[in-house]
Amino acid sequence: MLPESFLLSFLSNYFYMKPLKITSNFEVYESVEELPQAIQNLMNKAILARDKAYAPYSQFKVGAALALNNNEIVAGSNQENASYPSGLCAERTAIYYAGAAYPEAQIQNIAISAKSMKHKVEAPVPPCGACRQALVEYELKQKAEIAVYFMGESGKVMKANSIKDLLPLIFENSVL
Ligand code: THU
Repeated sequence: MLPESFLLSFLSNYFYMKPLKITSNFEVYESVEELPQAIQNLMNKAILARDKAYAPYSQFKVGAALALNNNEIVAGSNQENASYPSGLCAERTAIYYAGAAYPEAQIQNIAISAKSMKHKVEAPVPPCGACRQALVEYELKQKAEIAVYFMGESGKVMKANSIKDLLPLIFENSVL
């Protein structure tokens, strides 16, 4: 006769759905001025890049600045196209530029700021799903996390210590 506990664990292993809870951690800063000085400088670079965005169709400008461990800062902005899907987000413009220019460098932080030409964006604007997938590739490549700071035009800044906090259950090359 099998003990009841054995039967229960057998049943739950083979027959029952098991819930899985995934949690993400973020920090919220009230404003840019609350950030550490180096990150304020990085966010200011993102803001400068944002204002150079080419966004005639959406009127929504995004800037991203990356701090590398070789002390370089690489910035980019969204670049739109009359054929809409041919455009590219700021985050991918910046990270592909970093990957192309400094393939050996590690990316430590990314700062992102978004501004609409039509209304005030005060809530933090996180990177889109496609950019999260593009960004996480570089965390895996460099085997080190990238901290992400994101904001609107003004107001609160959110921080994630890793892209994985923004993108749980990543699709990664180990499955290929
Ligand atoms: N955009 C970005 O640059 N980054 C994001 O993460 C979200 C969206 C751009 C793409 C497009 O040019 C405009 O914002 C409106 O979607």
